[in-house]
Amino acid sequence: MIIIREASEKDAHNAIIYSKIVGDESDNLSFSGDEFNKTIEDEIKIFHDHAVAKNEIFLVAYLDGKLVSMADISSSRKKRRQHVGEFGISVMKAYWGLGIGRIMIETMITFCRESGIIKKLNLVANAKNTSAIRLYKSLGFKHEGTLIKDFYVNGEFLDSVCMGMIID
Ligand SMILES: CC(C)(COP(=O)(O)OP(=O)(O)OC[C@H]1O[C@@H](n2cnc3c(N)ncnc32)[C@H](O)[C@@H]1OP(=O)(O)O)[C@@H](O)C(=O)NCCC(=O)NCCS
Repeated sequence: MIIIREASEKDAHNAIIYSKIVGDESDNLSFSGDEFNKTIEDEIKIFHDHAVAKNEIFLVAYLDGKLVSMADISSSRKKRRQHVGEFGISVMKAYWGLGIGRIMIETMITFCRESGIIKKLNLVANAKNTSAIRLYKSLGFKHEGTLIKDFYVNGEFLDSVCMGMIID
């Protein structure tokens, strides 16, 4: 059974182990496993800060008790930018293609609609991450632009795709 809920203090240890693994499972996150150096205290603070902000959320998904996905929306506290959310997501590789990413993003979109604050949801994806970009398009995200040489992976510079969704 899959359980999707907001991250809290009790997820901090699992989140560190998880992040070190998923960082090395693809070239599509902004960090590799050995670069992930957050401490338990860092994670607890991040989860707490997201939980208290009305325009931020940090989700975890557990499948049969195992942490298999994390996703978050981060936003500004400033009035001029507080309506814009930026999301990030990962699913552990052994669980790709099962619909977990889709459910996590749908949950975040519902959160945005119910927040009453977020009016725009943005994301940035490595241009070679075609399965993720296809997923985002199918969920209603629109291509808004390209950031040239935004990633450096395996000796190669890669562009990023900016996508966004208006929240009504
Ligand atoms: C991108 C990512 C979050 C998608 O999560 P997911 O749980 O695999 O996504 P879903 O299963 O909901 O949907 C993936 C889509 O690709 C298709 N797909 C088919 N085979 C697949 C495979 N081997 N792996 C991934 N997706 C596959 C699925 O059918 C689905 O399309 P559909 O909804 O039209 O059926 C996940 O692949 C991931 O964590 N990748 C590494 C990190 C990353 O890229 N993060 C995003 C950075 S922008």
